[in-house]
Amino acid sequence: MVSFDIPRNLLFYIFICLMLSLSSEAAVVFLYHDCNPNTTTYTRKSPYRRNLNILLSSFQSNSTRQSGFYNLTVGQAPPDIVYGLFLCRGDVTKEICRECVRTASGQILQRCPNQKTALVYYDECTIRYSNSSFFSEWEQEPVLELLNTGNVSQPERFMQLLGNTMNEIATRAAKGDQLGKKYATQEVNFTAFQTLYTLAQCTPDLSVSDCQTCLKTAITYLPNCCLGKQGGRVVFASCNVRYELYPFYRFTAQQLPPPPPPKPVLHSPPALESKGKNKNSSTTIIAIVLPVVVSVVIFAGGLICILTRKSKKYDAVEQENGNEITTMESLQFDFSTIEAATNRFSVDNKLGEGGFGPVYKGKLPNGQQIAVKRLAVSSSQGLEEYKNEVALLAKLQHRNLVRLLGFCLEGAEKLLVYEFVPNKSLNYFLFDLEKQGELTWTKRYMIIGGIARGILYLHEDSRLKIIHRDLKISNILLDKDMNPKISDFGMARILGVDQSKATTNRVVGTYGYMPLEYAMHGHFSIKSDVYSFGVIILEIITGKKSSNFQQSDEDEDLLSHVKTLE
Ligand SMILES: *[C@@H]1O[C@H](CO)[C@@H](O)[C@H](O)[C@H]1NC(C)=O
Ligand SMILES: *[C@@H]1O[C@H](CO)[C@@H](O)[C@H](O)[C@H]1NC(C)=O
Ligand SMILES: *[C@@H]1O[C@H](CO)[C@@H](O)[C@H](O)[C@H]1NC(C)=O
Ligand SMILES: *[C@@H]1O[C@H](CO)[C@@H](O)[C@H](O)[C@H]1NC(C)=O
Ligand SMILES: *[C@@H]1O[C@H](CO)[C@@H](O)[C@H](O)[C@H]1NC(C)=O
Ligand SMILES: *[C@@H]1O[C@H](CO)[C@@H](O)[C@H](O)[C@H]1NC(C)=O
Repeated sequence: MVSFDIPRNLLFYIFICLMLSLSSEAAVVFLYHDCNPNTTTYTRKSPYRRNLNILLSSFQSNSTRQSGFYNLTVGQAPPDIVYGLFLCRGDVTKEICRECVRTASGQILQRCPNQKTALVYYDECTIRYSNSSFFSEWEQEPVLELLNTGNVSQPERFMQLLGNTMNEIATRAAKGDQLGKKYATQEVNFTAFQTLYTLAQCTPDLSVSDCQTCLKTAITYLPNCCLGKQGGRVVFASCNVRYELYPFYRFTAQQLPPPPPPKPVLHSPPALESKGKNKNSSTTIIAIVLPVVVSVVIFAGGLICILTRKSKKYDAVEQENGNEITTMESLQFDFSTIEAATNRFSVDNKLGEGGFGPVYKGKLPNGQQIAVKRLAVSSSQGLEEYKNEVALLAKLQHRNLVRLLGFCLEGAEKLLVYEFVPNKSLNYFLFDLEKQGELTWTKRYMIIGGIARGILYLHEDSRLKIIHRDLKISNILLDKDMNPKISDFGMARILGVDQSKATTNRVVGTYGYMPLEYAMHGHFSIKSDVYSFGVIILEIITGKKSSNFQQSDEDEDLLSHVKTLE
C-alpha cells in the first residue's frame, strides 16, 4: 500500500511543479498546424524565405498592438511576395499575445519548414501566411474541432441555450469594437450551479457580414462535434467559437459601447469557392481524454483567477472612461439616416402603434435592421436630460430586453432607435389559433423564464433599478429563436416622469395588468411589475387574454376567473 502511494504522490507533485513552471514561463498552448501540401515549396536561400523572415519579425515587433491583430505584405511581385497575419484571442494581455506570437513564429517554421502556405493555431493566437492574398476573405479550412468529453445534464435545453447565446455573441463580435477587435464573450446561467461561458472571434479584416457568416457556419458545426458535451470549439482560419462550463477567458468588466453610427459597408461576397476546397482532408476531430481536461480545467481556473484578479480593476477603469467619451456621438443618429432607413416613415414600414407613438421598421445602410419609435408624447425633459436618459438606458444590455441602440433629435421630432426583433410580440402567437400550436409547454416555460430574467435585471441587476410600469403580453417580443425580449422599458425615465409615482393623468399601465394599489392610488413599485408578470404568466398558461374576459363577460376578468377555479 505504502509503496504504491508514494510514487503516485511524487508524480502528482512533479505534475504540479511542471504546471507552475510552465505558467511562469510560456503559458501558451499549441493546438494544431497545417502546411498546405498542395502549395509550392521554397528553399532556405530563396527571396521568399527572406521575405518570410521579415514578416515574422515584424509580427513580433507588432505583437503588443491593442487590437491583437496585424496583417502585412512583404515583397513586390508573385513568386516572392508573402501575405501574413496574426490574431491574438480577444482577452489575452499584451504580454501573453507577444509570447504567443513569438512562440508560434518559431514553431511554424519548424512544423512547416518549406511550404509557402502555412498556419498554426494556439489557444491564445493564430498565425497564418501564404503566397497569395487572403485578407478580407473568410475561410474555414483548416477546420479544427475540439471537444470536452464530459456530458451535460439536460442536453436538449443546453444545446438550445448554447445556440441562442452563440448567435447573440456572433452578431456582437461581427460588429466589432473600438479597439478594432471582432470579439465577444457571454456568460449565462445554465443551472443554479452551472454557468455557460461562450466566446466568438473573427479576424478583424473581415467585413461585418463575412464575419457573421463565418461565425454562423462555425456554430452550425457545434451540434455535430459537441452535442451534449460540456465544452467544445470549432476553429476556422478566419474565425472561431468556443464554449465551456468553466471560465476559459479573462473577463472584461462590461461590453464596450455600441459601434459608432453606421457607415456604408462594402460587402464582399463570401469566398464560396474556397469553402469546400479541402473539406474532408483536413477536418480533424480530437477528443481530449477526461483526465487531461480535468487537470487543464484546474490549472486554467487557477491561472484565470490570478490573471483576472490582477487586471480586472484596470480593465473596468479604462472601459468606463472610454464609454463616457464616445457614448453620445455613437448613440445619436442623423434624422436623414433614419428617414432613409424607414423609407420616410412609410405606411408599409409601420410595425404598429405603441403606447408612446408609432413604430416603424427600418434598415440602416450597413444592413442592420432597426425598429424606430417616433415619440408622439411630449416630454417634460430638457434635451440634455433626455440624451442622458437614453444613454443610460442604452447601456442596459440583457438578452431578455429589447436593446436601445440610440436616439435622434430634430426639431420637434424625438425618435428612439431599437434593435429589430423579428418574431413580433407574444400576443401574436398566444392568441392566434394557428400559431398557438407552436408554443409547446417547453417553449412557454422558457419564455416565462426569460421574462422573469429580464424583469429581475431591470429591478435588481441593472444599475438603474427600473420599474417597467407597463408590462403586458404585447410588450414581450420574440426573437427568431423565440427568446422573449421586454420592450418599452424605461419610458418613464425618457419622458421625465417620477419612477415611482403616476404623476401624469395618462394611464401608463394597461387595464387587466394593473394591481389594485396602482389603480386606486396611482403608486408604482417593483411589486406592481411583479403583479403584471403574474398576469402574464396566467395568460401564457391559459392562452386567454386578460382583457378578452372583460369584453365577453362584464364581471369576470381572467383573474377573477382563475380565482373561481381555486
Ligand atoms: C501560390 O502557390 C500556388 C501553388 O504553388 C500557385 O498555384 C499560385 O499561383 C501561387 N499564387 C501566387 C499569387 O503566386
Ligand atoms: C510593425 O511592423 C512594421 C513593418 O515591418 C514596422 O515598420 C513597424 O516598426 C512595426 N511596429 C512596431 C511597433 O514595431
Ligand atoms: C491588411 O488587410 C487589409 C484588408 O483587410 C488590406 O487592405 C491591407 O492592405 C492589409 N495590410 C497590409 C500591410 O497588407
Ligand atoms: C457520456 O455519455 C455517453 C453516452 O450517453 C457515454 O458513453 C459516455 O461514457 C459519457 N461520458 C462521460 C464522461 O460520462
Ligand atoms: C447567475 O447566477 C448567479 C448566482 O446564482 C447570479 O448572481 C447571477 O445574477 C445570475 N446571472 C444571470 C444572468 O442570471
Ligand atoms: C490538394 O489537391 C488535391 C488534388 O487537387 C485535393 O484533393 C486536396 O484536397 C488538396 N489539398 C489541400 C489541403 O488543398
